[in-house]
Amino acid sequence: MGSALRIPGPELCEDGGVGAISAAGGLHLYQLRLHAEYGSVVRFQLPGAGVAVSVSDPLLLEDTARIDERPAPLFAFLEPLCEAGNLQVIGAEEHGPWRRVLLEVFAGRPSHERHFGEFVALVEALADRWERGSAESVSPVFLQKDLTALSLRMICAYALGGTDDGVVEPEKVVDAFEVVLTEYLGRTYRAEEGEADEADEGMKRAELALSYLRDTVDRVVAAHGDAPQSDRSGRDDRSDRSDLIRALLAAGTSPARIRDTVMVTMLAAHHTTGVAVSWTLHLLGRHPEVAERVAEELDRVLGDRSAPDYGDLRRLTYLDMVLKESMRLYPPGPYGARETTEDMVLGADGEYEIPVGTTVFYPFWAVHMNPDHWPEPERFVPERFTPEAVAERPRLAHIPFGIGSRSCEGAGLAMVEAQLMLAVLLKRFRFRAVEGHEVTPVERFVLWAAEDIPMTVTPRAGGRGPNG
Ligand code: HEM
Repeated sequence: MGSALRIPGPELCEDGGVGAISAAGGLHLYQLRLHAEYGSVVRFQLPGAGVAVSVSDPLLLEDTARIDERPAPLFAFLEPLCEAGNLQVIGAEEHGPWRRVLLEVFAGRPSHERHFGEFVALVEALADRWERGSAESVSPVFLQKDLTALSLRMICAYALGGTDDGVVEPEKVVDAFEVVLTEYLGRTYRAEEGEADEADEGMKRAELALSYLRDTVDRVVAAHGDAPQSDRSGRDDRSDRSDLIRALLAAGTSPARIRDTVMVTMLAAHHTTGVAVSWTLHLLGRHPEVAERVAEELDRVLGDRSAPDYGDLRRLTYLDMVLKESMRLYPPGPYGARETTEDMVLGADGEYEIPVGTTVFYPFWAVHMNPDHWPEPERFVPERFTPEAVAERPRLAHIPFGIGSRSCEGAGLAMVEAQLMLAVLLKRFRFRAVEGHEVTPVERFVLWAAEDIPMTVTPRAGGRGPNG
């Protein structure tokens, strides 16, 4: 196979693709236009990655799912968080065993059950604050700000364990992590850098915060004791996979890799889960008839309890459909990417030849808007996710958690967290959009609302908050 790409696509430009993306109004709109014009497999200029190939058809995506490498330049911005190799792009031999440990923990019921009580307490604390605010006519609430902060607190409790022994100071960890994100990753999105002195100051703050976080992980590791078979309460069970750090220790993971894993887990879980819930509440605000059905389901399953038990979640089937449909319309992580490790051919007739070393771009959001699989793709229709409707679509038509061996290890945990947050908040409140505020999605590290999502919250009659 030659190195030239014989795949349809627009003329190449000297600016590396920046102009075409901004003229289209962003990468997503550009992807929609490209795929409408050139078909399911398109060659285009992706800034930072040269000429990439975008694939929007779920059946063709199946053929790419086995690619087990990501293009390093696109993920270089994560390097400051990692001491032992950028976890997004480590090679397959290192990635496979690491992924297996993560999946055993994140996807397993034991870890969800172990942390569920803490999660409920954190969500209810936010609901109590909103309820007090509503009684004092403090309005509106800013969903994105409050819910991303909540999901950071939840993942901090999950990844670092209980706070009863004083090893972890959650508020300090949360603050330090925000500093790290603002100073390292925020730079990517800041139009202009501040003065050099200010930038230096910011960098010093970030280094201090990062080193505080790493020391905290070390303290948690030390508190587990050197022997992997004992947990912090002295329990002896080598097969226990409910505690992330213990599982990593048991797998012989190096201290630096454990620190990196905690950092990357907090990063991957924090904004994604928070925006998934904010976009869902935003959509429910615009579709009161759907919100009403969710509330009825919650009243039926929870009765007069204000929060579900872990076992209740699987009975909240309509809520689950609503969340999935929301992540279709607003996928928190709208894109992914791989790098081919060998020449490959896509299409039933082998019409698309992709040489080794090519960036394959995953336009998750455009896949979710593909009219071949989603009639009237702009409409919010949770019934698209009844078991019957799901069975009729290709597996990869809905991919908010990505594809294949580099897909999201936290998908199961994220669904538990998001369902719990929605269940508690929708049991207790009605949400109404603030008139005159236009909610505008912008593509950052996650799919973000430019000026947040302000909403008015009103306690429901049957919501039974502690003050109600
Ligand atoms: C609604 C919430 C979430 C969404 C929508 C989401 C989505 C994603 C997506 C799209 C990717 C890239 C997949 C690909 O390239 O194919 C990813 C990767 C990842 N996510 Fe999530 N995520 C969420 C929550 C979480 C949580 C809660 C955790 C951890 C507890 C987590 C851990 C990870 C990790 C570790 C990766 C890197 C995967 C790898 O390189 O092996 N995510 N996530």
